[in-house]
Amino acid sequence: MTIRRAAAADAALLAGLHATAFDRPWSAMEIHQLLSSGASGAVIEDAGFILWRTAGDEAEILTLAVDPARRRAGLGGALVEAALSGTRGEGAASMFLEVAEDNAAAIALYAATGFEAAGRRKGYYARPGAAAVDALVLRRGA
Ligand SMILES: CC(C)(COP(=O)(O)OP(=O)(O)OC[C@H]1O[C@@H](n2cnc3c(N)ncnc32)[C@H](O)[C@@H]1OP(=O)(O)O)[C@@H](O)C(=O)NCCC(=O)NCCS
Repeated sequence: MTIRRAAAADAALLAGLHATAFDRPWSAMEIHQLLSSGASGAVIEDAGFILWRTAGDEAEILTLAVDPARRRAGLGGALVEAALSGTRGEGAASMFLEVAEDNAAAIALYAATGFEAAGRRKGYYARPGAAAVDALVLRRGA
C-alpha cells in the first residue's frame, strides 16, 4: 500500500473516491478549492483518501473515504495515521473530527486509532425523510 500526499490536481480522483463512500458526494471543484486554500490530504491510489486542515495547534479531519470494495484491510487506519503525521508536521498538538452518531464503522475506526469523545452537536446531520442525527465530536492528541 502506498500513501502519498494529495494535491489540488488530484481533485477529480478524490471526488470519484468520495462518491463511492458518501450519499452526498463532494464535487471535484469543492475538493480542489479545499486543497488550494490550506487543507491537506493523503491518498491511497484507487482506494481511499483523507483531507484535514490545521489551524494553529489544532487540526480537523474534513473527510475520510475508503472504497467499499477495499474496506476492513487497514486502509482507513493508515489514512488517519498519515493525517496525524501530516498535521504534526504542520504544528498541530491535537486533532478533532465530527462523525454521525449512527456511523458505527467510522466510530469504531476512530476509537481504534485513539480518538475520544469531546462533545456532541445536536441534529448536525440532516437526513431526508428522517430525524436529523447528532454529530459526535472526537479528539486525540496529534
Ligand atoms: C470508516 C471507513 C473510512 C473505514 O475504512 P476501513 O479501511 O474499512 O478501515 P480499517 O480497515 O482501517 O479499519 C480499522 C478498524 O476500524 C474498525 N472498523 C472499521 N470498519 C468497521 C465496521 N464496518 N464495523 C466495525 N468496526 C469497523 C475495526 O476496529 C477495524 O479494525 P479490524 O478490521 O482489525 O477489526 C470506511 O468504512 C468508509 O469509507 N466509510 C464511509 C465514509 C465514512 O463514514 N467516513 C468517515 C466520516 S467521519
